[in-house]
Amino acid sequence: MSKKIRFALLGLGGVGGMVAKELAAHARGEIAVICDLKQELAEKIMEQAGFHADYTVDWQAAIGRKDVDAVIIQTPNHLHEGPFVAALENGKHVSIQKPFALTEKEVSNMAAAAARHPELTTYVAQCYRMERCYKAVKEIIDSGRIGEIRHIKIDYVTGYMHYWIKEMEFGADKRWRLSADSRGMLDGGVHAFDMVRFLTGQEAVKVYAQESAPLMTEYQHSSMVSAAFSLGNGVTAMVSSTFGAVSPWRPSMALEIYGTKGTIRDGKLIYHDQQNGWKKQPDYHDFYAEKEILGWPSEMTGAGHPFAAEINHLIDCIEGKAKSLTPAWSGAHSALGVIKAMESIKNGTPVEIPDLRK
Ligand SMILES: NC(=O)c1ccc[n+]([C@@H]2O[C@H](COP(=O)([O-])OP(=O)(O)OC[C@H]3O[C@@H](n4cnc5c(N)ncnc54)[C@H](O)[C@@H]3O)[C@@H](O)[C@H]2O)c1
Repeated sequence: MSKKIRFALLGLGGVGGMVAKELAAHARGEIAVICDLKQELAEKIMEQAGFHADYTVDWQAAIGRKDVDAVIIQTPNHLHEGPFVAALENGKHVSIQKPFALTEKEVSNMAAAAARHPELTTYVAQCYRMERCYKAVKEIIDSGRIGEIRHIKIDYVTGYMHYWIKEMEFGADKRWRLSADSRGMLDGGVHAFDMVRFLTGQEAVKVYAQESAPLMTEYQHSSMVSAAFSLGNGVTAMVSSTFGAVSPWRPSMALEIYGTKGTIRDGKLIYHDQQNGWKKQPDYHDFYAEKEILGWPSEMTGAGHPFAAEINHLIDCIEGKAKSLTPAWSGAHSALGVIKAMESIKNGTPVEIPDLRK
């Protein structure tokens, strides 16, 4: 039997705890060390998932261990750059939660570190790419069924801020979640913008964004941000995001794609029905046919978190059996798009988005 990949897990909160449970049960991976500020949390997760690993509060020590092959970073958003760069410099494969980073400087430092180590796997957990319904949408687009894409619109809108405030009353430390750093566009919006990149296969070159007045009057950053992106070849995209809406999480991001031969909207493929359309007496509805998109959205994993699929993919990449679906440069571009949207709001002007690979 080949050797199991040994992991260091950094951060064992909402996401980290679930990843630890999946990894603990994995046939090709094992957890060497877990790192969190809270030892009691680490112990609780080990007990619940039935595994034992070393515990440390020091992420540098965890990354530096000789018996660790790969690092999974699931610490708060402002704590991504240091562990990511250190992991690569210590020769470890690395998986990191979205958003890749929060500032342009962090993004470029991290992307540069990954570029210096092409021999190591990097995976940025833009997890919606793994969901069956979005894969089905991508297949429809790639098959040419809706023709050439002209416009795509995706919203990531939730009321998570209301939920995090309530969680704090029950003792959880969600202060970082409520800080302006983790505002809707930089954090949730990155899922929607990454989906634009994934589905169109194109990079955005420019963005103009604006924001509403706060939805929660005590939090300025609860505003709704709407960002208009220009992609190559005359394609436009509209991404809106907030965590401050009075609205629950919904099992799919609202997605609309308009192509020259068809539309994808409300989980359906809409196309001109050549055979049955245009009867003798034209009727508006004869124009279109509708087809449900596979698995939309009822088969979405958990709350849009396909952890098992992500871990399998990561291990396949480390073992050389697959190529990372979202390597560092790609996660970097998704983060950069939403960072530039925030810059556009600050400047009141459209902002160019650089291509980090040039
Ligand atoms: N893919 C998704 O859809 C998705 C969903 C939720 C969160 N996330 C991302 O996952 C990451 C974690 O989010 P979460 O909701 O699990 O947060 P969380 O607050 O529940 O957990 C963060 C954990 O990190 C630990 N931590 C903080 N500082 C640390 C340090 N210096 N060293 C070690 N541990 C430290 C905390 O003790 C906590 O247990 C974030 O980047 C977040 O944006 C992604």
